Order: sequence, then structure tokens, then C-alpha cells
Amino acid sequence: MIIGVPKEIKNNENRVALTPAGVAEFKKHGHTVYIQSTAGEGSGFKDEEYIKAGATLLPTIEEIYGIAEMIIKVKEPIASEYNLIKKDQLLFTYFHFASSEELTHAMIKQGAVCLAYETVEKTDRSLPLLVPMSEVAGRMAIQEGAKYLEKPLKGKGILLGGIPGVPPAKVLVLGGGIVGTQAAKMAAGLGARVVIMDVSLPRLRYLSDIMPQNVVTIMSNEYNIREAIREADLIVGAVLIPGAKAPHLITRDMLKTMRPGTVVVDVAVDQGGCIETCTPTTHENPTFIIDDVVHYCVANMPGAVPYTSTLGLTNATLPYAIQLANKGWKKACAENEELKKGLNVVDGKVVYKGVADAWNLTFESVETVL
Ligand SMILES: NC(=O)c1ccc[n+]([C@@H]2O[C@H](COP(=O)([O-])OP(=O)(O)OC[C@H]3O[C@@H](n4cnc5c(N)ncnc54)[C@H](O)[C@@H]3O)[C@@H](O)[C@H]2O)c1
Repeated sequence: MIIGVPKEIKNNENRVALTPAGVAEFKKHGHTVYIQSTAGEGSGFKDEEYIKAGATLLPTIEEIYGIAEMIIKVKEPIASEYNLIKKDQLLFTYFHFASSEELTHAMIKQGAVCLAYETVEKTDRSLPLLVPMSEVAGRMAIQEGAKYLEKPLKGKGILLGGIPGVPPAKVLVLGGGIVGTQAAKMAAGLGARVVIMDVSLPRLRYLSDIMPQNVVTIMSNEYNIREAIREADLIVGAVLIPGAKAPHLITRDMLKTMRPGTVVVDVAVDQGGCIETCTPTTHENPTFIIDDVVHYCVANMPGAVPYTSTLGLTNATLPYAIQLANKGWKKACAENEELKKGLNVVDGKVVYKGVADAWNLTFESVETVL
């Protein structure tokens, strides 16, 4: 198969969908790979490394879309790319159709095969192509939180791990899923006193078993949250209710009960945030302050560490991409339920229920396109 990797053109997106190691894998299976010049630059991969791995460089995005049977990307296509997409071309990338009606209609019009990273799903209902980004965001939450606790950045001026004779900071993690678990591990590793809250008792049992001594698990409810935020120095918002907006576990009035200089990193900002006062920020201007509480609400945290994020993402996507290239998308999806769940829009038909519901479009069973 002919595979094309365009350079990401969405604002501030430095990841790339394929590493030189990925190119080598495709070559091993007998495929042809075209990479747009400098596509890997933002993640630290030079053009020469791609050439050495067996890729051919093309200077423009038009040439990449023009030649490829399968396009592998990171972010959804933006308006300037829509008309480059050909009928029956396979696009394997994040789409998040339910958040863009324009994109949904554009892909229906182009007649492409849109296989979305975010809906590839395992039988245990986990989302293998979202997990690595949650891992990055969870780990980063502590790194960023520790930084904004510094006095010059308007934090309380407390060192996360303390020192001998001086107690460490108190970290509260709301939600014990992927983000929360990674955040708690990082905070614990730095020596903080960590509380992790979740509504799922089985999850709390599991976390209690695997976490180090300085992590305590507590049931998430309003009473317990009100108590914990009075004391916390750093709070990480990491809740998720699939398909719904995040619940506001910390309301505006509760901010007044927190100590000045407390830092809140609301990782759940992409689902509306679990702190009522959270509004999305960017890496250029990541924080704002309300009632002396520092809010960090960057919606694409992994974008700040493109090297790690690219490797994490491609580790997860490559095995699926190889199947798609080896078998063609129809056979690969027919034989692999996980991939089949990734099909969203095919040949002008919406085959993912959530997307059809979001924009009031006719839903067609995925079997009709296989
Ligand atoms: N900002 C970013 O850059 C970024 C990056 C990756 C993920 N995210 C977001 O982070 C959030 C968490 O993702 P995840 O992968 O950890 O999800 P997950 O499904 O693995 O974990 C969510 C956890 O929240 C718990 N929960 C639900 N309601 C709760 C409540 N009221 N109190 C406490 N816990 C509750 C669930 O039981 C679950 O354990 C999502 O909104 C995700 O989109 C943001």
C-alpha cells in the first residue's frame, strides 16, 4: 500500500503520525511510505532519518494527499485540507467528529474512509489510542503543578517533596483512571502526600493495592471533597464520565475555602472541566487566577512534549496501521472488532452512532460498508 504522512498544520501541533522506526516497519511489510518534508521536525525527527529508514520525501501536502492510499495523521484535517482528500482514501487519525459538524459534513462530502483513533475500542471497552495521551497528561499534571506552586508563578511557594524536617505538599487527585493514576504515581514519587478520590470502589481497591504508602484512597463525594480542598496545595482534575460533560466537583463558592496560592490542574478541561471556574487555556498562556487559586487548564497538554507524545502515540497506532496496510481497511476491519469500532464515516455514510446522533444524521450500520 502507498502510505502518506503529511506535516501537521493545526496551530501548535508538533507531533507526527509516524517515526522513522514506523517507516522501517512498513518497509519490512513491503509498503511504500511518503513523508512530507520536515513533518517530524517538531518531534525531533530529521528528514534524513526518514530517508535512511526507507521513506521518500515530498515537499508539499498536496503531493502527499495526491499519491497516498492511506493517510496517517495526528489531528483531524482542517478546512484547507478538505479538498485534498480523495474519494475512497483511507484516513487514520484523531477526528473527534462529535465536536465538529463542519468536519463531519466535509468528510461525508469527500467520500473518504475515516477511521478515528479515539473510537478504536478493545473488548474491555478501553480506548487504546487515547490511553497514551492520558498517560502523558497525567504525568505532566504534576510537573506543571509543581512548577506553578512556585512563588514567582503565583503559587503557595511550597516544594512538592518538602525536605528533611519540613513536610511535603498535599496533592489531591480527583478521578483515579488513567490520568489520575499516573498523576498520583508521579506526585508520590516526588514525596508528596497524595489523596486520590474516585466514585468506583473496585477502582479504589485496586489503587490501594498498587500505590505506594504515601497515597491514600478516599471515596469521592461532596463532603469529602470539601474537606480535602481546604488542605490541598495541588489539585488535579482527572474525572471522566464517558460521553458526558465532566461534573463540577469544585464549584465557584468552594474556591473561597481554599488557601491562597493553591494550584488546580484541570486535565478534564477537554470535557468541560471538573472545576466550575475552569476555561480552556493554551501553552502560550496556560494559567489564570480566580480567588487567589491558580488555574492551569491547557486542553492539549501532550502538545508541550511532542517527542514523548509522538513515540507514545505511534507505539499504539502502528500495529493497527500495519494491519490496515497489509490487509486493506475492509478486510482488516472485518477481522478485527477493535479497528471496526474506529470506522466513523465511510463513503459518505455515517457508521458511528455517536456521530450520527451528535449532528442528527442518518446512521448506517458499519456492516453495510464492509
Ligand atoms: N487536557 C489534556 O491535554 C488531556 C489529555 C488526555 C486526557 N484528558 C482528559 O482527562 C480526563 C480523564 O481521562 P482518563 O483517561 O483518566 O479517563 P478514565 O476513564 O481512565 O478515568 C476517569 C475516572 O474518573 C472517575 N470518576 C467519574 N466520576 C467521578 C467523580 N464524581 N469523582 C471522582 N472520580 C470520578 C471514573 O470512575 C474513572 O476512574 C478526560 O476528560 C480526558 O479527555 C485531557
